[in-house]
Amino acid sequence: MNAFTFYSPTLFAFGEGAEQQTGELVRRFGGHRVLLVYGGGSVKRNGAYDAVTESLRASGIPWDELGGVQPNPKSGLVYEGIELFRKTNADFLLAIGGGSSIDTAKAIGFGAPYGGDFWDIFTGKAPLSACMPVGVVLTIAAAGSEGSNSCVITQEAGNMKWGSPKSDLIRPRFAVLNPRYTCTLPAFQTACGAVDMFSHICERYFSNTPDVALTDRLCEALLKTVLDAAPRAIASPGDMAARSDLMWTSTLAHNNSVGVGRDQDWASHQIEHELSAFYDCAHGAGLAVVTPAWMEYVMGHDVARFARFAVNVFGAEMDYANPERTAREGVRRLRTFFHALGMPATLAELGGDEKDIPDMIAHRREKPNGFPFGNFVKIDPDGMEAILRLCVK
Ligand code: NZQ
Ligand code: ZN
Repeated sequence: MNAFTFYSPTLFAFGEGAEQQTGELVRRFGGHRVLLVYGGGSVKRNGAYDAVTESLRASGIPWDELGGVQPNPKSGLVYEGIELFRKTNADFLLAIGGGSSIDTAKAIGFGAPYGGDFWDIFTGKAPLSACMPVGVVLTIAAAGSEGSNSCVITQEAGNMKWGSPKSDLIRPRFAVLNPRYTCTLPAFQTACGAVDMFSHICERYFSNTPDVALTDRLCEALLKTVLDAAPRAIASPGDMAARSDLMWTSTLAHNNSVGVGRDQDWASHQIEHELSAFYDCAHGAGLAVVTPAWMEYVMGHDVARFARFAVNVFGAEMDYANPERTAREGVRRLRTFFHALGMPATLAELGGDEKDIPDMIAHRREKPNGFPFGNFVKIDPDGMEAILRLCVK
């Protein structure tokens, strides 16, 4: 196991009625005036917005609102939010929704105290040295942004979907997790969320770091929980046991408690960000296409690890004479799982086109840390092309 520091200062309030604590939690973490950030209206339809504003009112906390965050959140609303945050003298950001609303709130949070263009912090022109406090009321188990140290925004000028520098400063102060609010998710979004959390664990599980038995086992437990709970939540959207497991898994999958002490990969995420930038696809749907292709491309690097994944996560039988067969069986079962969730399997099913592959690689080159990326196996432009070609079949 590698040396590590782990600082995860988020307070998690989990369970039925947890949203009633929102106002109190804002106060506890120093907020006096809130900017509420939410998406296209799901939180108004499922009651989360009403419950949260009721709690703010009860605690005597005034608020202003920034609605209309779109999935794959765009820079335009961040600029607007920074203006509004300053103009209203707000001192606390409260996101109600999923990764897109949370990441918009985080970007406003570090953009507001910075004098220049918030995008400078993404490009590295300015450091991420301060962030206004962010709270979260989560309504979709997926991105894990409720506990993470990262934030992903698409800069409309140049259509760049980039992650901010990772920083503990942007971890939310608190996250309210009431799985009840996830029961209104359409099956497609439940599935996208399941794939995203599955991928967050795989990005950590496929590591070259030796002697990480504990985190290996924790990763496998989380992966098995997704396999078990996601189909149940899709078959019975009100299954609270399944919704609860998915919600806490999404948080644990990405607050790094299962990733400490080990090198992590993140190549599938890097490739998916290009798919989201080109096609504005749901992040989880893009990952459902890329992840098995990435696995097929890198499997030869550590067949034993892929065989372990097949056996310990999918219950495949170990073929000691031919471990590669077991390894391949794991990826086959993963594809079957994603298919059963209703996820796309190919670039075409995602709405993409093979002819865009060279442009996606060129677009990736424009990033300051463009190539190589990934750690389990370093991915150069040829590797990225090979993985994307595996997404075509
Ligand atoms: O916009 P509304 O109307 O709220 O609808 C949303 C949206 O259409 C809907 N939804 C959310 N909760 C619902 C609901 N519909 C019905 N009932 C509910 N309870 O779901 C749709 C997707 O919402 P979004 O916030 O985009 O989902 P998600 O949490 O998957 O976030 C995706 C974004 O997070 C980024 C992704 O790249 C993507 O931009 N990520 C952020 C990470 C981070 N900051 O740590 C890590 C991830 O790897 C990921 O990259
Ligand atoms: Zn993700």
